[in-house]
Amino acid sequence: MFIAGRSEEVLKGIDTKVQLAYLDPPFFTGTIRKLSDDAQYSDKWSSKDEYLSFLKSILLEIHRVLLPSGVIFLHCDYRMTAHLRILLESIFGEENFINEIIWSYKTGGTSKLGFARKHDTIHLFAKDKKVTKWNQLKEKSYLSHKYGFSNIEIKKDDKGYYREALMRDVWEIPSLRGNQDERVHYPTQKPQALLERIILSGSDPRDIVLDPFSGSGTTAVVAEQLGRGWIAIDESPEAEKVLKLRLRGPLFLENTSSGN
Ligand SMILES: C[S@@+](CC[C@H](N)C(=O)[O-])C[C@H]1O[C@@H](n2cnc3c(N)ncnc32)[C@H](O)[C@@H]1O
Repeated sequence: MFIAGRSEEVLKGIDTKVQLAYLDPPFFTGTIRKLSDDAQYSDKWSSKDEYLSFLKSILLEIHRVLLPSGVIFLHCDYRMTAHLRILLESIFGEENFINEIIWSYKTGGTSKLGFARKHDTIHLFAKDKKVTKWNQLKEKSYLSHKYGFSNIEIKKDDKGYYREALMRDVWEIPSLRGNQDERVHYPTQKPQALLERIILSGSDPRDIVLDPFSGSGTTAVVAEQLGRGWIAIDESPEAEKVLKLRLRGPLFLENTSSGN
């Protein structure tokens, strides 16, 4: 279900309990993001306090609508990551912190001083770690040779020998470039491979996934493909239009193996 409107208001009217929330809110970049000739959204804030109080109101509602078994993934960058970690701890509790995921990519982030900034941060918290539902994902871990591993299964593909290891919290996923089929020319569109990992790990088929900053609708598209229910909210009419088109088109997913 897509709901048009401002999330700080829309969320107050939602009583459905959800298993997973993924938030990719406006960042603190100080820019205007153009969505089309007549649509845009703003990353401009008068102060950090204004930005954080906006997100606090959203996070409190997310905490309310999450099932006890639920999880929240909050996507941010170097500008606000530290502040948002502290805000999440204050709402969800330090004890419910699970991971600080690093999404590492190769585009953007050049600078004359310091190192090139090539990652985003995704904070992962549980509503209540004691009862969290979680699917452990695996990834290929390549080895220089196949000898000396008597008690683990070694496999081979065209890149060489590998074993199946627990997925790490550093995710090397290329950001979207102009020529990719899944690209819909919505600025800040996230790759489906990123959402696939998030949704597979934190939810099961028929669970409900919530995205209060739907944008181009990546979360809804992947949730649909993976048989989850979904609620997507966005204040921009452009977001609804793009999501409708994407739900009619082909869906592109990475091959991630789930431990379950
Ligand atoms: C970073 S983009 C999300 C991109 C999305 N993850 C994707 O893959 O396309 C943020 C979105 O939040 C929306 N937005 C900004 N403020 C909002 C608010 N108060 N309520 C609802 N949507 C909002 C913008 O219109 C924009 O589409």
